[in-house]
Amino acid sequence: MRVILATSSAGKLLEFHEGLNSLGWELLGLDQFNVAMPPEDGATYEENAMIKAASISLATKMVALADDSGLEVEALNGAPGVYSARFGNKKSDLERNLHLLEHLRNVPQPRKAKFVSVIALAHPDGFVESYRGEIEGLILEGPRGEAGFGYDSLFLVPELGKTFAELSVEEKRKISHRGRALEALLLAYKSGNPRREVSKLE
Ligand code: IMP
Repeated sequence: MRVILATSSAGKLLEFHEGLNSLGWELLGLDQFNVAMPPEDGATYEENAMIKAASISLATKMVALADDSGLEVEALNGAPGVYSARFGNKKSDLERNLHLLEHLRNVPQPRKAKFVSVIALAHPDGFVESYRGEIEGLILEGPRGEAGFGYDSLFLVPELGKTFAELSVEEKRKISHRGRALEALLLAYKSGNPRREVSKLE
């Protein structure tokens, strides 16, 4: 199957490629098509992922995969959540990380948080599947590690004693929210039981 990866994030592309390669799908980048991503104005990760995948699938008449993800911090009542990419209207990962640390300045450990990812796969016949993955962790007082993107260097996985930014792509994929959502998708396809009936967007 030929699948367009509807994301322009290099970090996400890398993580998707690693996992999806095992399905034998031919993966195409968005840059090969003259189509624009729609605005992310859904209220949930599911809505946003489906809007993105469906819009690219509709425009290209091909299968499209998109994800929507975010960081939910317990002390901030789940913020930044679906707004993680534009937290505080900051323009860069570094600024968003500083903004998060500033919000948590007076919050003692354990500063519980979780990453959530929803992957949507939209088919040209209008059917869209979605798969969710989550991982719990703690927000550190300062960054640790060089790898990854976004809030990776602030997110500690207690069981490993490492932040996401201290893991290789492969190590991160095994446990991350995106990796887990991807695993659910891979399982569905490998068992010949994709959840194609989930919804049909008009
Ligand atoms: P979106 O899924 O493109 O809307 O972006 C979600 C935002 O959440 C990203 O821009 C990152 O700031 C953050 N995020 C999502 N997944 C991760 C991750 O694996 N590591 C670090 N930050 C992430």
